[in-house]
Amino acid sequence: MNEQIKIAQFGLGPIGLESLKLAATKPWASIVGGVDLDPAKVGKDLGALAGVEALRGLPVCATVEDLLGRAQLDVVLHTTVSKFKDAFVQLEPLARRGVSVVSTCEQLIFPQLKERELAAKLDKMCQESGARIVGAGVNPGFVMDVLPLCLTGVSRQVRHIRIERVVNASTRRGPLQKKIGSGLPSGEFRRLFEAGHLGHAGLKESLALIAHSLGWSLEEITETGEAVLAERDIRTRFVEVKRGLTCGLHQHAEGKVKGQTVLVLDLKMYLEAPNPRDVIQIEGDPPLTVALEGGVAGDSATVGSLVNTARRIRQAPPGLRLPTELALPFWA
Ligand SMILES: NC(=O)c1ccc[n+]([C@@H]2O[C@H](COP(=O)([O-])OP(=O)(O)OC[C@H]3O[C@@H](n4cnc5c(N)ncnc54)[C@H](OP(=O)(O)O)[C@@H]3O)[C@@H](O)[C@H]2O)c1
Repeated sequence: MNEQIKIAQFGLGPIGLESLKLAATKPWASIVGGVDLDPAKVGKDLGALAGVEALRGLPVCATVEDLLGRAQLDVVLHTTVSKFKDAFVQLEPLARRGVSVVSTCEQLIFPQLKERELAAKLDKMCQESGARIVGAGVNPGFVMDVLPLCLTGVSRQVRHIRIERVVNASTRRGPLQKKIGSGLPSGEFRRLFEAGHLGHAGLKESLALIAHSLGWSLEEITETGEAVLAERDIRTRFVEVKRGLTCGLHQHAEGKVKGQTVLVLDLKMYLEAPNPRDVIQIEGDPPLTVALEGGVAGDSATVGSLVNTARRIRQAPPGLRLPTELALPFWA
């Protein structure tokens, strides 16, 4: 694969900037520009914004249409929003023009769960133009869906899967520390969680992706989310939390087949969480327990996943793809 892939970065927040910097180091990638809504970034020099000399002279555009008018694109790294409905309008012009996208949009890991019609619409556009669109990342995208599915590649039988992830959110970026509710009274956390304005996006989608891939037809997916309250005052680079206020969350999802719980995804993500880890338990033949001590470092791994997937995406058939429909992921 000698051809260089022309890449643009759509979304220049912490994840987008790190993805851009990593992509800029790859001999197979040629960066052509960036897109972001933020007026403080639009019109700036991309190299100056990212602190990468090699990217000097490249534009930061306010819209993807603007960038498409100035440069040819093969693949866009998309890192803006969590909900597929919000991402759809950003992805549509790319899908229409045959530009492929690897996105950290959490719901894109299994967009059919909440937006079946929109997903079918985007898929059709991609099939017609030759674009491929896929979700990638660490969670969703790896630890609580793709990795457990890979492990079942040696199973003769699978009866039950339980995945537990504990994240010390103090090690994560500012936007994540905010989206887990840091600093909020527990009542406010509950209200915003129930309205879908905070919490980890994509837990149900991870669960649905596993069930879909294993051919399990779930009767029901349940999800709960509780605030974890700080036992003492906590200060990080990004937030300050007084004792008794929310310092993160405990989110839990279950899926049932014939009244039996067959899938459990349990996520604890809070500031100063002790013993961070990822544990996957597969009950079946053979039984398997895999523990990743310390857990997969979320922000760094998301960036790795995004860039590694960008190299392989054009080998997949055109369409809105599930991560399980791409070749096995590996470092590129
Ligand atoms: N799957 C995973 O494992 C995983 C892991 C990490 C992050 N994520 C997701 O990846 C995304 C990026 O993370 P982050 O921390 O970098 O988020 P962030 O700080 O919110 O950055 C997103 C950037 O995109 C911009 N943006 C939003 N809508 C836009 C639009 N329509 N057009 C152009 N720019 C737009 C935002 O501008 P404004 O600031 O002006 O709104 C912001 O600069 C988030 O949705 C996050 O939840 C997923």
